[in-house]
Amino acid sequence: MRILAIETSCDDTAVSIVDVLAGERFRVLAHTSYSQVKTHRKYGGVVPEVAAREHAVMIVPTLRLAFEQARIPLGKVDVIAVTRGPGLMTSLRVGVETARTLSALWKKPLVGVNHIEGHLYSCWPVHGIRGVGKGERPKLPAIALIVSGGHTELILMKGQGQYKLLGRTRDDASGEAFDKVAKLLNLPYPGGPRLAKLAERGNSSAYDFPRPMIATHNLDFSFAGLKTAVRYAMPNRLTPKVKANLAASFQQSVIDVLTAKTLKAVKRYQPKSVLLGGGVAANKLLRQTLNAKLKNNSTKLFIAPLPLCTDNATMIAMAASFHAKRRRFDHWQTLRADPNWELC
Ligand code: KG4
Ligand code: ZN
Repeated sequence: MRILAIETSCDDTAVSIVDVLAGERFRVLAHTSYSQVKTHRKYGGVVPEVAAREHAVMIVPTLRLAFEQARIPLGKVDVIAVTRGPGLMTSLRVGVETARTLSALWKKPLVGVNHIEGHLYSCWPVHGIRGVGKGERPKLPAIALIVSGGHTELILMKGQGQYKLLGRTRDDASGEAFDKVAKLLNLPYPGGPRLAKLAERGNSSAYDFPRPMIATHNLDFSFAGLKTAVRYAMPNRLTPKVKANLAASFQQSVIDVLTAKTLKAVKRYQPKSVLLGGGVAANKLLRQTLNAKLKNNSTKLFIAPLPLCTDNATMIAMAASFHAKRRRFDHWQTLRADPNWELC
């Protein structure tokens, strides 16, 4: 089965073409993405209307590029997959309308995919992307920590298509917190990766920031207060050393909370695997810390490879394959974008 996947939920116009092989293995024929970062940098964040306009301009060239990369004739796929939600309505709509049109035109079945389910499947082994190893398939049940600009969620994946939300952020997402603190430190958008880089030169115990909700029994998160704590701790004069110390101490606090809650979920549910996905999963310290904490545990850790941490269409194709195998298709006449679509 060959899947064409489209992802336009936020500010990346992404198209992938993926072959689904026997034994749940995937081979990527095309993995393309156009990032709008430069456009949004001047506004300090994603402007939905502007994002939608860029998607509209870039979607056809990105599709063409994907077919060129895959070296297959236009339309020679078996299934069309598209992110239907959650995300920005106007951005999602560009992908969904394109996928509906292609499904009607090429007479191919259509699968609307949940963006978060895509991030879960970014931990599945895949061939064909430079720098990405093959690895083994996560065993289920799994606990997934999905951390991105819009989400911070702990999900129990009992089986394929069977999800239970264990906890989520009550205010800012972890990536959002990184971006907002980065803005306070005058780092350009998107601040998360830059803040993480700066933190490498700082002392993580220089400031004793709170670890919000770390001791609560539930598996929810809260990061808005932490951002305020950083603001109050900021001196009038921000020297490079002070900035690095603030960044390192803030980052440590976020990672302590994410790790503690994930370990709490592991202890409670005894899963076979832990999955880490989403933009913040690119954070080196988070990857190292979870790795170290789960080293002697019978639960195996699966971390999304770096090219699949940020939004991409390969993960959407992988998630779609499980629906397509069960012949759970949508129809082009009725598929609609849903900005608030909850996975569970
Ligand atoms: O998954 P993603 O590409 O888009 C959303 O669905 O939100 O995640 C983007 C988020 C941004 O908030 C970005 O600052 C954050 O992931 N991010 C990081 C790092 N790399 C990206 N946060 C912390 N450390 C990083 N290395
Ligand atoms: Zn995402």
